[in-house]
Amino acid sequence: MKDSFDRTIDYVRIAVTDRCNLRCFYCMPAEGIPYEPKQHLLSYEEITRVLRVLGGLGFRKVRFTGGEPFLRKDFMQLLENTAGLPDYDSIHITSNGTLLQKHIPRLKQLGITKINLSIDSLDPERFHKITRRNDFDKVMRTFALLVENGFKIKLNAVIMHGINTQDIIPLAELAKTHPVDVRFIEEMPFNGGYKENLKLYRAKDIHTDLKAQYPGLEMLPSEHGDTADLIKVPGYQGNIGVIAAFSRTFCHTCNRLRISSKGEIKTCLYDGGVFNIRDYMRSGVTDKELAKKFQELVKLKPKDGFAAEQSRTNTTTPLESMSVIGG
Ligand code: GTP
Ligand code: 5AD
Ligand code: SF4
Repeated sequence: MKDSFDRTIDYVRIAVTDRCNLRCFYCMPAEGIPYEPKQHLLSYEEITRVLRVLGGLGFRKVRFTGGEPFLRKDFMQLLENTAGLPDYDSIHITSNGTLLQKHIPRLKQLGITKINLSIDSLDPERFHKITRRNDFDKVMRTFALLVENGFKIKLNAVIMHGINTQDIIPLAELAKTHPVDVRFIEEMPFNGGYKENLKLYRAKDIHTDLKAQYPGLEMLPSEHGDTADLIKVPGYQGNIGVIAAFSRTFCHTCNRLRISSKGEIKTCLYDGGVFNIRDYMRSGVTDKELAKKFQELVKLKPKDGFAAEQSRTNTTTPLESMSVIGG
């Protein structure tokens, strides 16, 4: 499917829950989070239906996010359903890594091996400070097990001024010793109102740090829909990535549609939500009507994240938590 700017849209990101067992401060406040009641969330049957219809429209990649997707009791059931759909080349998950250890054998059986893990620091104390929970050892054990089992892992680290810039090089070094991509992300203002006035550590600052450490680095060409500028350090097993999530330099190749856990469609991470697909499905529409609606929605996709931000009608209250958007 093409949008109005001739971009092929074939990647859907679905947040399966807004709940999380961590409290990363760049994502949500420490307490008082207004979680959605369970019946407001898309059921796994509804998600499977959406995926089937989108598959028929040319979607080939799906990523499940949250909140933390493994918090949802029927998540493995959803993955089994999705693995049975014919249209998807790849099924991806973004997780905080605290709850997935016991599912590794089943994930492997299902051929679901592409997992992005959030690890913002290799220092246990800083990890605790950022996530407000003491799960560093558990996450690192999961990381090691996933690598051992041949999963294709990308590590995500949100880099924040005065918080974890000292982690950039130690994290990057994981790509030397492990076949994993390590990606550094600019902070975005989606934290449910916990923090104001981001003092941004920009993608260009991260590139400067990496260049100073690795003078021999090479920039790799980017592929359709990539958010990361990819860097190869000669001799390293994995690549290093920098994601200009706030500077938004990659919108011209964007291939994504987002669906929140309560069925809100976002045609861009920065828009305020353009349609509720849950209510539409629950009104009894046919698959054909649903497909037509998705075609219309894709045409609403704005040129870039700046245009999307301008289109938001609600600009007075704090921006939502990333756990609602799904990253
Ligand atoms: P791949 O599917 O491997 O390309 O992963 P991804 O980078 O799309 O997904 P992931 O869930 O690992 O997200 C990594 C970071 O990129 C998170 O901070 C996301 O919020 C951010 N991100 C993902 N998609 C977009 C996007 O369309 N726009 C912006 N600005 N940031 C994005
Ligand atoms: N800015 C940038 N990235 C964020 N993530 C969560 N909140 C933010 C934010 N405010 C990232 C997480 C996760 C991905 C889905 O989104 O680190 O890896
Ligand atoms: Fe949970 Fe992910 Fe948000 Fe951290 S970034 S609080 S792990 S949803």
